[in-house]
Formats: sequence, structure tokens, C-alpha cells
Amino acid sequence: MGTAAPRAYNPPMCGIVGYAGPRQAVPILLDGLKRLEYRGYDSAGVAVFSNGSIGVSRSVGKLANLGALLNRAPLEGFIGLGHTRWATHGGPSEVNAHPHLDCEGSVAVIHNGIIENYLPLKHALAEAGHDFTSATDTEVLPHLIEEELRGFTGSEAAAERALSDAVRAILKKVRGAYALAALWSRAPGVIVAAKKDSPLVVGLGEAENFIASDVPALLKHTRKVVYLEDGEFAVLRGDRCEFLDAEGLPLAKLPADINWDSAAAEKDGHRHFMIKEIHEQPRSVRNTLRGRLLPLGDGVLKRETGLAAESLRSAAGVHILACGTSWHAGIVGKYLLERHAGLATQVETASEFRYRRPVLPPGTLVVAISQSGETADTLAAVRLAQDAGLEVLSIGNTVGAAIPRQADYSFHTCCGPECGVASTKAFIGQLTALNVLTLHAGVARASISEAEALSWTEGLQSLPELIEESLRLEPQVRVIAEAHHKAEHFLYIGRGVNYPTALEGALKLKEISYIHAEGFPAGEMKHGPLALIDPSMPVVAIATESETLEKTLSNIEEARSRGARLIALCTRGEKRLSGRAEHLLELPPVDERLSPILNIVPLQLLAYHIADLRGCDIDQPRNLAKSVTVE
Ligand code: AGP
Repeated sequence: MGTAAPRAYNPPMCGIVGYAGPRQAVPILLDGLKRLEYRGYDSAGVAVFSNGSIGVSRSVGKLANLGALLNRAPLEGFIGLGHTRWATHGGPSEVNAHPHLDCEGSVAVIHNGIIENYLPLKHALAEAGHDFTSATDTEVLPHLIEEELRGFTGSEAAAERALSDAVRAILKKVRGAYALAALWSRAPGVIVAAKKDSPLVVGLGEAENFIASDVPALLKHTRKVVYLEDGEFAVLRGDRCEFLDAEGLPLAKLPADINWDSAAAEKDGHRHFMIKEIHEQPRSVRNTLRGRLLPLGDGVLKRETGLAAESLRSAAGVHILACGTSWHAGIVGKYLLERHAGLATQVETASEFRYRRPVLPPGTLVVAISQSGETADTLAAVRLAQDAGLEVLSIGNTVGAAIPRQADYSFHTCCGPECGVASTKAFIGQLTALNVLTLHAGVARASISEAEALSWTEGLQSLPELIEESLRLEPQVRVIAEAHHKAEHFLYIGRGVNYPTALEGALKLKEISYIHAEGFPAGEMKHGPLALIDPSMPVVAIATESETLEKTLSNIEEARSRGARLIALCTRGEKRLSGRAEHLLELPPVDERLSPILNIVPLQLLAYHIADLRGCDIDQPRNLAKSVTVE
């Protein structure tokens, strides 16, 4: 395969490091966080047992800022936690940076993940007299632990057990994803860590132990690591480390020996960020859906984005603005919003919009899609729309970036930082967000029935498993790549919601392999592009189950009869293409509106493996930048 996928999970965002041992904690924490920088972050912090209490230092921006702060006001101690935060709930700021503390400053918690039900928990805690200082979901955790530990009068040894019991107890009240670690000043010397749906590894050293959200943070100190599974806990001291199950019973866990180098470790054992990010897509969808779906029509969208269902109900139409891959997601959005929410929708590249004199009916909702949230043309288009008196919803993957800050409402796709220049998991996050938006709009506008909304919801929830199935096509895709990586040109064709999939498949190929590739609506082929077809032309046809499949099959026949080398995506069990396509990739059956989310996966893999075989610089293709902050 050329890529290794040695681990069962994929890191989403935020970096966690913990240390218990005989050495000063701060340098170890800072070094560990530095090695997790590739995950992306916007603020950082540490908590250290210092003179019988917990000292905390936090700052916005790069780790150097935190380092400078700690130089001015050092924190000395042998047990500590460090965290780099990628903002989700609450923008990047010092108060929102981790660690978070309880009212007394005696419990410190760092957390990676999303606490879905933090709002009701926060309200209940506030009513019980707890003071909150941040806008984060995480801050409920130290306060919940504080409640559990209230009135504790036992010894230091009993405090260790009490802290681990308290962490277990509060996690029964919490819904969502977490990798977390807690310190309590009454239990000096101990770190309690827990995991569900976010990664956490324990590093076992000589008379010292570590936790981290990913292996690179540990490699300097130990190669013996234990991967925590969902529902498991670790109780660490310098001299010992215990593992517990969800009921607090001891678990015997065998350490694994890590033999990869740190460069491979940063990429989770993969050779490139792009392939790592392609494999993270089930998690991207899961995280983007988390807390955004149900209950439909009951304020969920307002809570998560600021946009009221009423605004969708009364919207005059939608105008989607974006560039590149995000524009392709926008075209899928047009199909969805028009068909299922009855909203007239225009979609336009931001660089065109900003230089014409657009006439936009009052009440049009503008949707700006941008992974980075920094694309200059999209930002300018957002400002132009706002100057025209329109409200803007941003869909993006970077909290605190210019576009979500400028927009009136913001839908954050929780895909975690995307490092490869070619956008993959962010695209799937955008498609997921557009499905969620349309579903809420359809309910608000009564353009879909309750039964349809329910089945759409179920379809969305089943996506992570279905994407795993798409990913399992990788060995077949590699064979196709081997057969076609020397081609000079490629055509991609699709219809309806999969016309933008064709555009995106072609963009992926051209940007990382430098092969000339074009995407067309399948019905357009006879109006010109058919002239390009000769027996050397690979044509990638998206022919999965859809209302227009019959027509796509005819278009495929037109290309085939002119000698095209056909690579077809079809739904498992489809017989009409067997013997006709040179390569057939069978995908699991899925509702048509969700099909681009499954179909793009083999096309991303095809681009990746072709580029790999051509020896291209996959993560940093020539002439391209990840954030296009200039016109
Ligand atoms: C996608 O693979 C490209 N790197 C590019 O087209 C990108 O989608 C475009 O520059 C827009 O970026 P944005 O989503 O960060 O605004």
C-alpha cells in the first residue's frame, strides 16, 4: 500500500501532555506540546503542582508566548499537565485556554474533544453557585469534579482514589467526546486521565510516567506506550501507573513498543498528511455532526451557529460564496437547499462575486464556505454582502479565523487542523455541515416530512461506518493508480449532487499530481468534451445509485464507444457496468444526497496514489499555499 496505518484511531485536534516523575514538569510539558504542534492550535497552557497548590499559566498564540510567560513567572513542580487548544466552543483567548479550574483553583482539567451537553450542565452548576470564567465546554469538568469532591476529609492516599472516583462519576453525566486529564491539589503526585472518542496514550518511563494525545510527544522519553480505549481510565504517579475500566476495576494492559521515527509519528504513521487526513474522515463527520442534529427544529442550530431556524424559514434565498474545494461543496449545497428546503440558491466563486455588481434580493442568506477561514477573496465577498445589508453564515474549520469572526453566524466543522494543501477531510466536513443546514432548513420550512427528516438523520449518523467502507477500496484504487499514473489527461463526469464530486475529483488530481484533469456534468459531454476522448483517455464516471443513473449510464456508453478507458464508481450490486468498465469501484448503498460524501473518498485516494507513484510533493504541491490570504 505504501502507507502504514498502525493505529485504530485518528487524532482530531488539541494537544495533551502530562508528566509525573522526578524531573521538573514544565520543560517536559513544553517539549511535548511542541511535538504536537502539527495538530494546530491557537492557545496553550500548563498546570503544575507548585508548593502545595496548582499553578496555572496560559497564553494565546504560539508556544513561544507561553514559554516567555513561564520564563517571567516560572512554575516549579514535578507533576503537571500541558495543553494546546484548537478552539471549538469559545474563540481563542487566554480565558478559554486550558487548563481550566474549579471555583477554588484546586482542580485543574485539560480536555480534547467536545462536551455536547455542556450547556445544561453549566446552567445547573451556575445555579448551584459555581462561577465560570470561559466560554468553553471544558470548564464544566473541573466544576463537576469539585461537586463530587465536596466535603472530602480523607488522607492523601484516599484523595487519589477519591479523584479517580470523581472523574469516573462525572463522566457518567457527560455526553460527547473526550480525552482528559485532571489534577487535584489534595492528591498531589497523581494525574487521572480518561478517554472516549478522542485519543490518549500513556507513556511508561523509568520512575516517571506520561500521558499524551499522540505518540510524538512521548518518543524522547519512552517508546513503551499504552493506548487507552474508550471508557478506560489511567491513574498515574511517577512510580506507578494503574489502568481502570468504566466501573473502576483494575485492567491489565500491555504496552506496545513504538519503533517509528518522530516524523512518521506526527503523521500517525502515515507517509503524508494528506493520506492521514483522508483516513480521518469518519471522525471528521462524527465530530461535525456531534450535537448538531437533534432535536430537529428545537434551537440546536441556533445554539451551535447562532442562526435561528426562523431565519431559515423566512429566508428569501441563499447565496453561497467560496473558492476551490469549498466552492465545490457549495455546489452540493445548492442541490440540497433547492431540492429539500425549497430555497432558491446561487453559488459563486468569491473572486467573481466581489468584482461584479451582484443584485441580491433582501432577505437572502449568504453562506461563506472556507476551510481556513482566511481566504482573501471569500472574506472580501463576505464584507461586500454585509455592506449590502445581508446576513452571513460562515461554514469553516478554523474557529477565530477572519471569516467566522466577520460573519454573523458560524458553523464550525470539527475536522481538526488540515495540514495537507489538498483539502480532503475539510471538504467532507463542509458537505456534512451543508446536509445538517439543509435538514434544519427543510424542517423549519416544512418542506420535508417528519419521516423524511428522521431517515435523513439516520443516514447522516451512519456515514462514519460507510466512509470506512469507502476507505477499504484503497487497495483497488492503488491498482487503478498503477495502471493510469502515466496518463497526461483525465476526465471526470457526474450528475446532480455528484457533478461537484466530479469537479472535486479532478481538482484533487490536478493539484497534487500535476496531471491535467477536468470535471464535467455527464450530460455536457456531447456538447464538446467528447471530442477529447481517444483510447488513451481515462474517464472517471460517478455512476452510483441516483435518480439520473440511467442517463449517466448512457453518457458513459457515449464515452466508452469512443474508446475511453473507463473507471466507474457504482453502488454495490450494480450489474449494468460489469464488463463495460476497465475498473469498477463498488460503494455501499446510501441516500443520494449523502452519496458525494462516500464517492469523493476513492477519488481522493486515486489522486493521492497517482501523485505518490509520480513522486510528487503531495503535502506541499508546487505553486500552491494552504491559506490563500492574497487575491
Ligand atoms: C483544495 O484542495 C485547495 N487547496 C483549494 O482549492 C482551497 O479549497 C481553496 O483555496 C479555498 O480555501 P478555503 O476553504 O480555506 O477558503
